[in-house]
Amino acid sequence: MSVNSKISRHEFLLFQKFILEQCGIFFSEDKAFLLESRLAKLMEENNIKSYINLYNLICNNKSVLLVQKVIDAITTKETFWFREKTPWAVLEEKLLPGYVNMLNACKHRKIKIWSAACATGQEPYSIAMCIDRYLKSQQIKDVTLKNFEILATDISVEAITAAQKGQYDDVTMTRGLDDYYRSNYFSKTGRYWTLDGGIRSAVQFEKFNLLESFFMMKEFDLIFCRHVIIYFTEHHKQEVLNKMAAILRPGGILFLGNSEILPAGVSNLKPEIFKNNKYYRV
Ligand SMILES: C[S@@+](CC[C@H](N)C(=O)[O-])C[C@H]1O[C@@H](n2cnc3c(N)ncnc32)[C@H](O)[C@@H]1O
Repeated sequence: MSVNSKISRHEFLLFQKFILEQCGIFFSEDKAFLLESRLAKLMEENNIKSYINLYNLICNNKSVLLVQKVIDAITTKETFWFREKTPWAVLEEKLLPGYVNMLNACKHRKIKIWSAACATGQEPYSIAMCIDRYLKSQQIKDVTLKNFEILATDISVEAITAAQKGQYDDVTMTRGLDDYYRSNYFSKTGRYWTLDGGIRSAVQFEKFNLLESFFMMKEFDLIFCRHVIIYFTEHHKQEVLNKMAAILRPGGILFLGNSEILPAGVSNLKPEIFKNNKYYRV
């Protein structure tokens, strides 16, 4: 079966509201074609004949699996290794020396890092590789990657499942990864590059919707929340960033994407600049 019909304005508005309530993502009317094509593929795969049928199935039947498939279909999971230079320059040159001192002073402490919309894993794995490379290049012996807890979450189960595998194709490997990381942290098996087990096990993946309560999220030193609030309404941007500010340890740091700005009403996060790189401190 192929879904040829166009989404009507009425159907579009129903999905727009549903998606906004489920994940905070706002599809403006000029993005109707994008929503239409993403849902059409899902409908074809699941033999659903019309947009209104799909809507009724997710709203009335409340099929958790189908709702998850809609979320997987409509989310933009574009990502790549070491995306934008800002967080890596700040992490390596400013934050890691401080974290190493802190860990040396207090052996029981762990540095807690959260990649809050990790997509297919390139961001949290870049964090783990960056830390590992730093510790080795500085010949630091007392502190290892095991002193860092890296949590990576995303609303998309499809993305999390792919991330957990830690296997990437040739095209993905060309996007942002330099030769050092490719040759030291990956091995090629068949068509795929498999990430080193030590790096994979340094990252714990979980499904998590940023609209949920942060009750279980506690005391992070560093949060990466990059290229996700850009899809949210101002209200949801504000709500999510205020929740993040509340779970950062005193002096904790937040990275946004370079194109993302702090919305009004988030007073606990203050911008700081390090060598032209902007980040936020609580
Ligand atoms: C464009 S990717 C960004 C990935 C990575 N942070 C980066 O900067 O390369 C955006 C991710 O946000 C996730 N996302 C969207 N809404 C979300 C929500 N409400 N809660 C958690 N993750 C969400 C999507 O599933 C997608 O994987």
